[in-house]
Amino acid sequence: MTVLVTGATGTLGRHVVERLRRAGQAVRALTRTPDEATGLPDDVEVVGGDLTEPHTLAAALHGVSALHLLGATGHDHAPLRTGPQIMAMAAEAGVRRLTVLSVGEGGELQEAVRDSGLEWTFIWPIDFMSNTLGWAEVIRGAAEVREPYAHRRTASVDEADVADVVATVLTRGGHAGRSLVVSGPEALTPADKVAAIAAATGREIRFTELTDDQARREWRAEGWPEEGIEFMLHMWATVPETVAAVTSAVEDVVGRPPRTFAQWVAAHADAFRP
Ligand SMILES: NC(=O)c1ccc[n+]([C@@H]2O[C@H](COP(=O)([O-])OP(=O)(O)OC[C@H]3O[C@@H](n4cnc5c(N)ncnc54)[C@H](OP(=O)(O)O)[C@@H]3O)[C@@H](O)[C@H]2O)c1
Repeated sequence: MTVLVTGATGTLGRHVVERLRRAGQAVRALTRTPDEATGLPDDVEVVGGDLTEPHTLAAALHGVSALHLLGATGHDHAPLRTGPQIMAMAAEAGVRRLTVLSVGEGGELQEAVRDSGLEWTFIWPIDFMSNTLGWAEVIRGAAEVREPYAHRRTASVDEADVADVVATVLTRGGHAGRSLVVSGPEALTPADKVAAIAAATGREIRFTELTDDQARREWRAEGWPEEGIEFMLHMWATVPETVAAVTSAVEDVVGRPPRTFAQWVAAHADAFRP
């Protein structure tokens, strides 16, 4: 079967592509800019298409029997509004099974997927461990992370584990009609994560909590757009309790425990070294 991976040029998608190839699947990678898509393996077919413009997806879906679909696009993670059209095209193309990255319960896309008649599984990852790479520059430089909402705990998940879940569901099936919240093995605060990076790199790294106004001032000075600043502050101020919940999804689907943040850091420690 050919599997179409959307988001294949992104952090998670690259892992999904790799896992599917390892499982012996033919993989097609969707990107809006095929000429700029570098670093994908040679045997992966790269095709152009934009999920927000379904008419561009016909070639990408042709001959595909399984699909990994982004549930949101853009910097603000806006939910995909073209679910009904994409589901209709997928069914017509012969797609039988799909994983859909979920960004919450409900919404147009979820409805369209549930009504599609296809074998669907929603994959709802808690925040990726790789989001901490956003600290890499300040850790390499001033060795200090400055952020608001120091108390927020998230059961962050290694994106490679999410990819293992996606690839296992797509290749083996068995989780149809389920919504899998995919977490790591522990709920950590930003300060816990900074401490783990300090331990892995053998460096002293400070964590300083900012007020909202201090964060606004500092992020503005770094050139963040106003809407990006307010999006971040709102997101962190309203983080639901559920993001701290550890789930058994990785173990249930892949058959082994999820990787710890310490394991993730050990594999990425160089990014945090000067
Ligand atoms: N980061 C997290 O903590 C987290 C947590 C839960 C869920 N998620 C979700 O997981 C998904 C993947 O995250 P990531 O960090 O791997 O993403 P990423 O590295 O930011 O990459 C984004 C990917 O989305 C593709 N894309 C964006 N808009 C598109 C469009 N209109 N049509 C087709 N492709 C489009 C991009 O492809 P091209 O630029 O090549 O077209 C790229 O491959 C995101 O949808 C995100 O909402 C992330």
